[in-house]
Amino acid sequence: MQLVHTPSAMATLAQQWREQGKKIALVPTMGWFHEGHLALMRRARQEADQVVVSLFVNPMQFGPHEDLTAYPRDLQRDTELAAGVGVDVLYAPSVQEMYPAGFQTSVRVARLGKGLCGASRPGHFDGVCTVVMKLLHQSCPHLAIFGEKDFQQLAVIRRMALDLNLPVEIIAHPTVREDSGLALSSRNKYLRPDEMEQARCLYRAIVFAREKARAATCALPAKDLCREIQENIEQYEGCKVDFVAIVENDTLENCEAVNENSRLIMAVTINNKVRLIDNASLLSAELL
Ligand code: PAJ
Repeated sequence: MQLVHTPSAMATLAQQWREQGKKIALVPTMGWFHEGHLALMRRARQEADQVVVSLFVNPMQFGPHEDLTAYPRDLQRDTELAAGVGVDVLYAPSVQEMYPAGFQTSVRVARLGKGLCGASRPGHFDGVCTVVMKLLHQSCPHLAIFGEKDFQQLAVIRRMALDLNLPVEIIAHPTVREDSGLALSSRNKYLRPDEMEQARCLYRAIVFAREKARAATCALPAKDLCREIQENIEQYEGCKVDFVAIVENDTLENCEAVNENSRLIMAVTINNKVRLIDNASLLSAELL
């Protein structure tokens, strides 16, 4: 596996691969790899000839009081893990290379990026879109793979690709979970073992909501179910709902009543310390 550190070196490599007719896949990440990231990389390995994984903790998507400096980083560990699943290039540019002095451009997906996580993290999705746009330009992939764990991010990126005619296929990969149901996340590293137990309230809420949705014999108002889900989560000490929403899968607009396209999306803070997100379809046969 090759380590690449500059946008120009990345672009040169991508250009060479393109000339050789190679199919390129990009998996954008912020590092501290877990099985969720590795699943995306394996998927990329199946889909393309050359697999690029970007590793960049993007300052532009963190708010002023968020965990940018605390975010876990270990290039050595990540290099070994990526090499282990057959990645061709680990692309880890510096902040200075990505955002040189005078940088002032941003990409905004106006409506999709405003609600849900965008409401509690203003500007977050502008930062995500801007960096993903740059990474796509630098590595020129035919396809880019994103996890459904960050469902709003996936929707925003899909919209950006469509709106700006990006010549790239956006592929979604299902959420990878621990046996307990907890969605894997780099931020789980902040949790002590007892807090990991508390964090399972998110998955329990998903199971609860899916059971309620499936058992309903007439139209179930989404507002009522959201309230019950919030109560279900907050019965556990230290678990505080940031938001719970039931939205249409494609538009992320609030549902009036639960239907086949309804998705539960939520963010919960554990002990006023770690904010975790999760989502799932409410009526699909499988947990997606
Ligand atoms: P990061 O949180 O490192 O996630 C990188 C990719 O891994 C994202 O597409 C995310 O959805 C996916 N992922 C994370 N946990 C997952 C899980 N449990 N199952 C499946 N996929 C999972 O998301 C980002 O980084 C950044 O916002 C980024 C897109 C790289 C832009 O900076």
